[in-house]
Amino acid sequence: MGSALKIKRPLTHNIYKKDFPLLHDTHPQLHYLDNAATTHKPQSVIDAIVDAYSQTYGPIHRGLYPLAEAATAAYEEARETLAHFIGAASSKELIFTRSATEAINLVAQGWARPRLREGDCIWVTRMEHHSNFLPWQRICSQKGADLKIVELKEDGMLDWESAEGLFDRPTRLIVLTQVSNVLGVENPVRAICAKAQQAGIPVLVDGAQAVGHQPVNVRELDCDFFTFSGHKMYGPTGIGALYGKIERLEEMEPLLLGGGIVDQVDDRHFTLGSIPERFEAGSPNLAGAIGFAAAANYLLEIGLAQVHTQVSQLSRAALDALSQCPDIRLLPGRNTQRHTIISFIVDGIHPHDLAQIAGEAGVAIRAGHHCCQPLMNTLGLNGTARLSLGLYNDAADVDALLLALDQARRLIG
Ligand SMILES: Cc1ncc(COP(=O)(O)O)c(C=O)c1O
Repeated sequence: MGSALKIKRPLTHNIYKKDFPLLHDTHPQLHYLDNAATTHKPQSVIDAIVDAYSQTYGPIHRGLYPLAEAATAAYEEARETLAHFIGAASSKELIFTRSATEAINLVAQGWARPRLREGDCIWVTRMEHHSNFLPWQRICSQKGADLKIVELKEDGMLDWESAEGLFDRPTRLIVLTQVSNVLGVENPVRAICAKAQQAGIPVLVDGAQAVGHQPVNVRELDCDFFTFSGHKMYGPTGIGALYGKIERLEEMEPLLLGGGIVDQVDDRHFTLGSIPERFEAGSPNLAGAIGFAAAANYLLEIGLAQVHTQVSQLSRAALDALSQCPDIRLLPGRNTQRHTIISFIVDGIHPHDLAQIAGEAGVAIRAGHHCCQPLMNTLGLNGTARLSLGLYNDAADVDALLLALDQARRLIG
C-alpha cells in the first residue's frame, strides 16, 4: 500500500498556478489542498486591491468631488460585476456583506425574525456549516419556532423523501447548502427550489462552496436568497455577498443601522433609503468589493465550465487513488459523486496527526469537524481529514498527499 501509488495523470502541468504569486513564487514547494477553508489570490486580484487604494480610493455614496465619485462608480461597478457573475436580474439584488456568514445572519435577523411566529418551522439540513445552522437555531429559539433537519441517507445525500412536512404550511423557510464543505456532495437545489416555489416557501442557498468552482446562476436555481464569500473564490477576505430576489429584499429589515442607509432622520424616526444601500450601513469596503469583482472577472475569463471540468478530473483521480487504500474510509462512500472536496479517515491515524505530518511534508490539508458538529455527531465522528481542490492544483499536489499518507503510516500506523 502506499509509496508506489500515484494518481492517474489528468493534470500534470497547471497553467493557472503561475497567476498565484504565493504558490508560484513565494512557496513553490507548498501543496495547498485546503481550498474549502480559503483560496489564494491571483495577481490580478492583488493588483486590483493595490490600484483601489492607490488610484480610486475615496468615500462612497457621500462625496461630490471627482475622487469620491470615482470611488462610488468603482464600488457600483463591482456590484454589477458580481450580480452578473451569479446571474442576478439586477445589481440591486446584490448586497455586500463582510462574509457569507454575515449574509446568512442578515437574512435570519432581518427577514426571518420579523415574520417568524410560534409554531412555524425552518428547515435546515444535516450537512450545514455552523454559519448556516446557528443563526437558524437561534432565531427559532427566540421566536418559539421549530428547527427541523433534513437527514442524510447512507450515500451521504440528503433524504428529502423522509423530510415530512417540508413543503407544508408551517414551513416558513428552507435553508440548504449547495455543496457540502465536508462531504463534497452537491444538493439538488433547483428541484428543491421548484417545489418550494409551488408551495410558496422561500429558499436560502448557501453557495460558499459552489461559487468560484462551477457556473452558478441564481435565476436558474430560482432561489430567494443566495450567500457567498470573496475569499473562497480567489478574492479577498472581509467581503461577501447576499443575493435576494427584490421582493424578498423589500420585506427585509437592515441588521445594522447607521450612515448611508436612510432618507430622513428626525429625533424619533427614520425612513430607510433605497435597496441595496439600506443594508450596507457604515463606510463600505471599497477595496474588498473591487478585489471581489476582480476575482469574478478572473474566473469569467477562464470560464467557469473550464474551471469545473479541470477540478472535477483531478478530484476523480484523487478519489480513485484514495479508494485503492484499504485503510482509508471515504466519507461518504466511493461511489457518491463529489467535486472539489474529499473527506476521509485513515485507520489508526488521528486526522490531526495526519494533517500535522502532511503539513511538515509541505502538504496543507484540513482536519477536524470543519464547523459541522451536528453532521459529525450524526456520523459518530470527532472529525475527518479533508482535501479540497482549487484551480491551481495538479497531480503533483495529490501525489504529495499520497506520499505524506505513507509517511504518517510509517510514523504512526
Ligand atoms: C458551506 C459553508 N458555508 C458558509 C461558510 C462561511 O463562510 P465565511 O467564513 O466566509 O463566512 C463556510 C466556510 O467554510 C462554508 O464552508
